[in-house]
Amino acid sequence: MSIDTIKPRLRFFEGAAGQQHIPETDKYLYAVAPPVHRLAIIGTGTIGQEHMRVARLLGRAAVHGIFDCEQRSIDIALANYAAQEMSLPEEQRQPAPIVYTSLENACNDAAVDAVMICTPNYTHFDVLKVAMASGKAIFLEKPMATTLSDAAATVALARDYQSFVQIGLQYRYKAQYVESLHEALVRRSVGEIRMISMSEYRPPFLDKVGQWNKFNHLSGGTLVEKCCHYFDLINLFAGVQPTRVYASAGQSGVFDGLTRDGRKSDIDDNAFVIIDYENGCRANFTLNMCSPDFTEELCLVGTHGRLIATERFDVHHRQEAATSLRLELGELGSSKESVLGYASVIERSGHHGATYFEHAAFLDRLEGKEPIEGGAATPLQGLWSMLIASAAQESSKTGNAVEMADYIEANGLASVLGESFAAN
Ligand SMILES: NC(=O)c1ccc[n+]([C@@H]2O[C@H](COP(=O)([O-])OP(=O)(O)OC[C@H]3O[C@@H](n4cnc5c(N)ncnc54)[C@H](O)[C@@H]3O)[C@@H](O)[C@H]2O)c1
Repeated sequence: MSIDTIKPRLRFFEGAAGQQHIPETDKYLYAVAPPVHRLAIIGTGTIGQEHMRVARLLGRAAVHGIFDCEQRSIDIALANYAAQEMSLPEEQRQPAPIVYTSLENACNDAAVDAVMICTPNYTHFDVLKVAMASGKAIFLEKPMATTLSDAAATVALARDYQSFVQIGLQYRYKAQYVESLHEALVRRSVGEIRMISMSEYRPPFLDKVGQWNKFNHLSGGTLVEKCCHYFDLINLFAGVQPTRVYASAGQSGVFDGLTRDGRKSDIDDNAFVIIDYENGCRANFTLNMCSPDFTEELCLVGTHGRLIATERFDVHHRQEAATSLRLELGELGSSKESVLGYASVIERSGHHGATYFEHAAFLDRLEGKEPIEGGAATPLQGLWSMLIASAAQESSKTGNAVEMADYIEANGLASVLGESFAAN
């Protein structure tokens, strides 16, 4: 985010009873500029509502309108939005969003300058095509599609698009990964990165409308649906093209009792993935979805030292996430350990603050400014994250390692990926 877009906020004082005597005309630090952007949110489920909440917290955009095919999702989103507006001082409140009667109306409303697609994975490509006919800036939730062919078609469409498409790979904005990317890629604190280990231990996937995330054909598979976040980060740290992927994945049985339309849930919920990169860097990723709380760990080992970043979100005993970064440089430099975290009001707004900074990057881009370090995820980066995920799913099915050059060729992706991974 560029510095000139950040207006310091002191919400603690703005909202304090003892500060309400300050007249409107004397408000300077407490003055809040009205939103300059208007968003249309497509899909008002878990993440659609998170984007609505975060848009208003950030304050640079109003949610002008919403569209969802389920009345219940619309009603809940409107009620939650209204409750958030009521918590604001009167002069900052925005009217309730319009409820559109069709996707086309939502995307083509002239009052809206950006469309956020927050529908289930299997709908992304169809919704995107309608949204792109509007010519407006588009935010498309991750994973960009359920199949590599739709993801590749998205990259191709986005290349010729008059505006831009940003993919919702928001883990780049989690505090521990922002700091790790800076240490590893800007300061180059650990030297040449040789090994990257990431893990996520978490409870099973939460309930969804229609339980779309429990079925491979609707979600693209667990490694595509959720772990694209981690493969995106691993790709950023490695910085070069992956050459080989091997994975072992399976089901713990937690969703054995879940069926829809006579079909049993078929998603994996635990996996080990190994990725080789063309510069000799190796990475691994571990997923376990039978854990009581949420724990993520990143361990980078380079020629100069080791970096360990963690996030623990213990839903049973503590609401806020505990996030840290440790840098160990032995005799080669200064080691350090930091406790990280965004302001609590931002951390609580969703994904521990990542959604808020993802919005800031999206709006920066809309305004033609340089986005926050690490950049907003492009469709091509979204495709690379999906490519590793898909190759891992293929490997776990066959039991064989996937040679990426062959996999790219077999899926007809060479031309869309281009010659240089660095051009991502
Ligand atoms: N970036 C992240 O970290 C993150 C986190 C959660 C979800 N997501 C992604 O967001 C998307 C939605 O996930 P969710 O958790 O909000 O799911 P959800 O089931 O809670 O909500 C999805 C909503 O979309 C609506 N919908 C379905 N098809 C539609 C269509 N064609 N048009 C309009 N509305 C439609 C549903 O009625 C529902 O209200 C998925 O792609 C998911 O992967 C991303």
